[in-house]
Amino acid sequence: MAERAAEPILEVRDLVKHYPLTRGVLFQKRTGAVRAVDGVSFELAAGETLGIVGESGCGKSTVARTLVHLERPTAGRIRYRGEDITRLSGRALKAVRRNIQMVFQDPYTSLNPRMTVGDIVGEPYEIHPEAAPKGDRRRRVRELLEVVGLDPDYAGRYPHQFSGGQRQRIGIARGLALRPEIIVADEPVSALDVSVQAQVVNLMERLQAEFGLAYLFIAHDLSVVRHISDRVAVMYLGRLAETGTDTEIYEHPTHPYTRALLSAVPRPDPAAGARRARIPLAGEVPSPAHPPSGCRFRTRCWKARERCAREVPELAVPEAYRASGGPAAHPSACHFAAEPDEPDELYGTGEAGRGA
Ligand SMILES: Nc1ncnc2c1ncn2[C@@H]1O[C@H](COP(=O)(O)OP(=O)(O)OP(=O)(O)O)[C@@H](O)[C@H]1O
Ligand code: SF4
Ligand SMILES: [Mg+2]
Repeated sequence: MAERAAEPILEVRDLVKHYPLTRGVLFQKRTGAVRAVDGVSFELAAGETLGIVGESGCGKSTVARTLVHLERPTAGRIRYRGEDITRLSGRALKAVRRNIQMVFQDPYTSLNPRMTVGDIVGEPYEIHPEAAPKGDRRRRVRELLEVVGLDPDYAGRYPHQFSGGQRQRIGIARGLALRPEIIVADEPVSALDVSVQAQVVNLMERLQAEFGLAYLFIAHDLSVVRHISDRVAVMYLGRLAETGTDTEIYEHPTHPYTRALLSAVPRPDPAAGARRARIPLAGEVPSPAHPPSGCRFRTRCWKARERCAREVPELAVPEAYRASGGPAAHPSACHFAAEPDEPDELYGTGEAGRGA
């Protein structure tokens, strides 16, 4: 894990992505919108890893796609090294895109089956010819394959001749070709066997140290995210519920959603595990086309009260913890984050978590 630098390399402010819902074929009428991402803010420092976790459909991939300009945000700002890149186009956009690369979830569908591995890894040089002189590309591709732990002599083979883990290594090599500063990895290990997941995560950690990369690492598996992340953002229905360091989030969660998610994860420490009661998540995730008023989590929250339906909770450090500076003093989007409740006692967040 990397030390966190002071200056953010990437700043995301109030990011919104709505997909219009329409009716009719010839005369399309807009009937509403899927609010996939609805006001998300975070920062990423050079060389650090920010993990984003959340259930399926909460908007993780949509955030990823807007960051690498595969989609245009509906509103909000994305800054790269202080420069607003939200609405860049043409050459200026191309220059920025070199520095922010993406690694995709599914190594089976994200690699063109008709291209050789060498051509796949070297493809970014076709789009950015200025990044490597033509005569040098073959050598670079071999080097990239070596860096990710593949035999450079495999450059002439096709994706189907590789295992899932090897294919993800190919995807990572392609992501590294332009020597980016940021890699947005959208569930890079979710499609892999558990034993292979660890190898790929270890590879990503090694590459991070070697090339000073910053990662936005998206996953629904909380254990994988904890392993690799310096900081973690928990997402629910298009918004962030809680953000903090891995210790703050995993040992001292204050948002009921985070607590419910974590209660379902087995703990390596059996003594602590015994103190953690399972908090069931009631009901289904509501549709992002019709999110609940106020707090989006309220339809599934055991702490919900009348205020939760009225007021949207801001992502902020709870007042009661602010002065303590303890591990509970991290941003949480809950009106009652500092109030004890029954699951809290069962859960064993403990007095240290309250900064008391
Ligand atoms: N192009 C699109 N048009 C309409 N709705 C979309 C589109 N892309 C995504 N959505 C919707 O936006 C919401 C967020 O989707 P997204 O793929 O970002 O979620 P996710 O957190 O990545 O989920 P998963 O864990 O399953 O990958 C979902 O309700 C999804 O159906
Ligand atoms: S604001 Fe209310 S509904 Fe939302 S998480 Fe907090 S207590 Fe639950
Ligand atoms: Mg996704």
